[in-house]
Amino acid sequence: MKITVIGAGNVGATCANVIAQRELASELVLLDIKEGISEGKSLDMMQTSALLGFDTRVIGSTNDYSKTAGSDVVVITSGIPRKPGMTREDLIGTNAGIVKGVVDNILKYSPEAIFVLVSNPMDTMTYLALKASGIPKNRVIGMGGILDSSRFKCYLSQAIGCPATDLHGVVIGGHGDTTMIPLTRFATYMGVPAADLLDAETLAKVAADTMVGGATLTGMLGTSAWYAPGAAVALLVESIVRDEKKVYPCCVSLEGEYGQEDICIGVPVVIGKTGWEKIVEYKLNDEEQAKFNKSADAVRSMNKVLVDMKLV
Ligand code: LAC
Repeated sequence: MKITVIGAGNVGATCANVIAQRELASELVLLDIKEGISEGKSLDMMQTSALLGFDTRVIGSTNDYSKTAGSDVVVITSGIPRKPGMTREDLIGTNAGIVKGVVDNILKYSPEAIFVLVSNPMDTMTYLALKASGIPKNRVIGMGGILDSSRFKCYLSQAIGCPATDLHGVVIGGHGDTTMIPLTRFATYMGVPAADLLDAETLAKVAADTMVGGATLTGMLGTSAWYAPGAAVALLVESIVRDEKKVYPCCVSLEGEYGQEDICIGVPVVIGKTGWEKIVEYKLNDEEQAKFNKSADAVRSMNKVLVDMKLV
């Protein structure tokens, strides 16, 4: 397996580090436009291989896409992260052009690759990658829901007082502060509904904290988070390269599922060696479906910007 990560910033480098430590590929290429950054971070990771015991070969590249040739999976983290007070949507003007350029370059050298989009606004960048590449929809996956669900389970575990790994919790919809939908009704602790363990006010606070999970960190750090985003990307990649068939909420192209079409947005999907293989359809109630439709409207209006920018 060969994996490429585009963008050696905080998220790209962290996800590359987790991918290397879990030995998800024999070769991992980390590419960045800044001279020396990807080479330096790759060499730093290689110098941990004797300490941590992995044999993934990590190679840095300053914008030489020929090094990425023949990749099975390409993770795109390129672009600028948000600063305190910014929404993910504020980044579209800068990041859309960057992501379009990356997609074109990757296609030249790895036409069979599965694309994993992380750059924000992620739902719109996923839609852009799908339209700009013309590759089958199953090979274009946006990473947002896994991260948001992990944040959801983190806050739920603190409220219930249990390990996050004993919880089931899913966030669907757009990867935005106001567009994501933590499905509190489906959240369980070893099969017991979270709603039976927490009062309504506490559960609502868990959902609200989840929605601004990323923004809270941006306020503290002055930039976007990286440990949880990097780990979430690596887990998604792991389910692809090991053909695990895990169900993760990811941003994928809908063609009528969940009542939506011509959009990429977060829903639970089975992830395996061909990309996303199947959409898992929850039976949403009217309130949840209304929230999902509203979220889709917001994502769709962001996608319109791509038309104005003449990128799709
Ligand atoms: C976040 C970024 C990766 O949510 O979108 O932290």
